[in-house]
Amino acid sequence: MLTQLTGVGPSIAKRLSESGYNSIEAIAVTTADELAAAVDVGKSTAQKIIESAREVLKIGFETADNLYEKRKNIGRITTGSKNLDSLIGGGVETQAITEVFGPFRSGKTQLAHQLSVFVQLPAEKGGLNGKALYIDCEGTFRPERIIQMASAVDLDPKKALKNIWCARAYNSDHQMLLCQQASELIKKENLKLIVIDSITSHFRAEYIGREMLARRQQKLNKHLHMLERIADIENVAVLITNQVMAKPDTFFGDPTEPVGGHVLAHVPQTRLYLRRSKGNRRICRLVDSPWMPEGEAVFIITAEGIRDP
Ligand code: GTP
Ligand code: MG
Repeated sequence: MLTQLTGVGPSIAKRLSESGYNSIEAIAVTTADELAAAVDVGKSTAQKIIESAREVLKIGFETADNLYEKRKNIGRITTGSKNLDSLIGGGVETQAITEVFGPFRSGKTQLAHQLSVFVQLPAEKGGLNGKALYIDCEGTFRPERIIQMASAVDLDPKKALKNIWCARAYNSDHQMLLCQQASELIKKENLKLIVIDSITSHFRAEYIGREMLARRQQKLNKHLHMLERIADIENVAVLITNQVMAKPDTFFGDPTEPVGGHVLAHVPQTRLYLRRSKGNRRICRLVDSPWMPEGEAVFIITAEGIRDP
């Protein structure tokens, strides 16, 4: 009940619901500016409402033993490749954001499809018995591919499709709104994976030129922090993909870098750099992980999905 929050009476509760803030979780992950604009209240009132939501959900300081208990609930989703799984410590983790970046055709979207299928498997087969939510920003989600990947592991393709909630995001605001709405579906639908493919394409297209850069980064930062809170509060895995762009004035090393620069570099807990190799081979480099050593793994993309070579 939203009215249990400080500062929320029946009329504000109604306005909150009408603006898509249907749950305490959705309010807890938003920012005061957004909430103030959406329900037409002052920023300080909005801040109080958000704080109250975070209090109800017990977000804030906690002692390390609680944190330890919570971390025991981290789930892992297999990628389909044992090489890749061991590189990242057993699969893609819940309570965290995993970023997959790399050039076109490196396999980012394929990995996103694969995880949307494998999250549905029971734990003993490497899944989390849950559903996926797929925010498609580039129009490259293919149900046909899901059918192929599901059939390959004897999942009923019809059921597999029903277990994936999809939305096409048409611009960066829409993309952010979809994430906010996602937080309502999570418990109701037992979502265990949220995919955003790709996180930066709209931002990159809409905020062009140097003078727009600061605003773009600010907004991207907000978006990522919302995702981070969702992953954390709801115990879901968040997978974001990201293109790389040419880095001017590079003389040594890799001449590309992920879009989004330092904002994106600091939020995701795990960053994977994919690149093409011979034929259907792909090389994945673990660039950043809180507790796994850096390293590389080779996997292949087959008709059945992601596998070991
Ligand atoms: P961009 O979104 O363009 O940046 O690329 P991406 O990194 O998302 O690439 P994506 O995951 O779409 O990978 C495309 C590649 O996957 C293709 O070039 C194929 O090599 C492979 N692939 C895609 N679908 C199939 C399939 O049905 N069978 C097989 N064997 N390979 C596939
Ligand atoms: Mg793609």
